[in-house]
Amino acid sequence: MLTVAVLISGTGSNLRALLDAAADPEFPARIVVVGADREAEGFAHAEEYGIPTFMVPWAMFASREEWGAELAAQLRVWRPDLVVLSGLMRLLPATLVDERSPRIINTHPAYLPEFPGAHGVRDALAAGVEQTGASVIIVDNGVDSGPILAQERVPVLAGDDEHALHERIKPVERRLLIDVVRRVASGELDLAQIASRAAGAEASAP
Ligand code: GAR
Repeated sequence: MLTVAVLISGTGSNLRALLDAAADPEFPARIVVVGADREAEGFAHAEEYGIPTFMVPWAMFASREEWGAELAAQLRVWRPDLVVLSGLMRLLPATLVDERSPRIINTHPAYLPEFPGAHGVRDALAAGVEQTGASVIIVDNGVDSGPILAQERVPVLAGDDEHALHERIKPVERRLLIDVVRRVASGELDLAQIASRAAGAEASAP
């Protein structure tokens, strides 16, 4: 059984979907802890399922590195096989990424490499594209630049604002995220192999 830690910052609707999926005894992964960088609304979902939570408040640390060191220490307590960033709105320091990668994944509300960063939905709208999407990636030391594990297009509709578009993207993200976690747990997706292939491709690029 794959053990998973989920990190959030906000409402945790994608976390909720993962918790619901993992409640099925047939699902090959279990969420062992939910962490956040603030008092996140999404903790309520974990509490409902009786899953432990921890908080490493961003505002209490002098630097990204110090915050990340405490986050890494908390994660070590729970020894998860996989860390899922599900709406964690902070960049992780390289020390933490290096400790966990490639067994750390992120869900993003855009069709990467299009519109990386904190405002993927807003940036897609501002660019006036006809379609955007959702992606699940391995976290590396760039901004949403790691190997893509799953992605799907979502159309931008006339009259969409950021909220409406984001709410249409999220169900797609949820489906992709649950499927990726399932495939990692079953061994169908080998994160180490995918990451090393991606590193090899990058090294041989002109
Ligand atoms: C999700 O759309 C997630 O992809 C996004 O935050 C949302 C969290 O929603 N993350 C990022 O934009 C990271 N760059 P939720 O709290 O309702 O699950």
